[in-house]
Amino acid sequence: MAGVRFAEAIPIRVEHTNLTGTMSEAVLSQEERPAPSAAHAAVVIPAAGRGVRLGPGAPKALRTLGGTPMLIHAVRAMAASRHVSLVVVVAPPEGVAEVRSLLDSHALPGGAPGGGRAGTDVLVVAGGETRQESVRLGLEALPAGHEVVLVHDAARPLVPVDTVDTVIEAVRDGAPAVVPALPPADTVKEVEPAAVAGVPEPVVATPERARLRAVQTPQGFDRTTLLRAHKEVDGEVTDDASMVERLGLRVVTVPGHEEAFKVTRPLDLVLAEAVLARRRRNDGF
Ligand code: C5P
Repeated sequence: MAGVRFAEAIPIRVEHTNLTGTMSEAVLSQEERPAPSAAHAAVVIPAAGRGVRLGPGAPKALRTLGGTPMLIHAVRAMAASRHVSLVVVVAPPEGVAEVRSLLDSHALPGGAPGGGRAGTDVLVVAGGETRQESVRLGLEALPAGHEVVLVHDAARPLVPVDTVDTVIEAVRDGAPAVVPALPPADTVKEVEPAAVAGVPEPVVATPERARLRAVQTPQGFDRTTLLRAHKEVDGEVTDDASMVERLGLRVVTVPGHEEAFKVTRPLDLVLAEAVLARRRRNDGF
């Protein structure tokens, strides 16, 4: 990444509830921050992608769903868990200030920036060229403590809190890496990819569907394992758990959720709006 590094360039905003339950707000240096409880989880949200498959427009994380930016939904989904005490948002490098003001303007009364529970801190750092680099930059901003670290795509704004809690519990129970997963509805083929889209591609294999899982986020990790994976594993990957697999360590799945789908293509936006509308009808969400 060309340009600024988080620690020098971006002040850390901290919001916390004091013992009387009123909000206090301050901009503190990393050294001044109160030590987090190791039992609490931190979440890194990579949100620095352009989202080209969604069509032209704002970076994907800043597109709105039900009038609220996708990133805000994602932050709220993480902060809804009582086990999450820190969310690190990794913003497009040129959009850090915009993301910070967006989080500020979506704070709920008594809650953290972005609309999380009171007691959830939110940091914003600049992202990189690839998802992997963005996650690594988010990890570098983590203060000491937080033995459980989750990585959650901003592009999965509607993941239910139960899924978040299930992942955290599995890590606390001793799994070094945990991924929420669902059996695929479609049969999946391995092909020889064509150089040009739309050209017929030879099929080379049909993996047995019963053994396949489509994985989602948040993916959860023992902190030491995730830091090691990002330090030692090179090469293109599409999720963090596969980096842990490359270290030869055990990765397990827990049940995912159909509402944790990734908003990637225009039709996903239609589905996400419908899910939100149903939630609002059902529980005044
Ligand atoms: O491109 P893809 O859909 O796999 O992106 C997954 C997540 O990674 C998105 O939330 C996106 O904003 C993020 N990302 C990032 N930095 C990049 C590329 C993607 O934070 N350079």
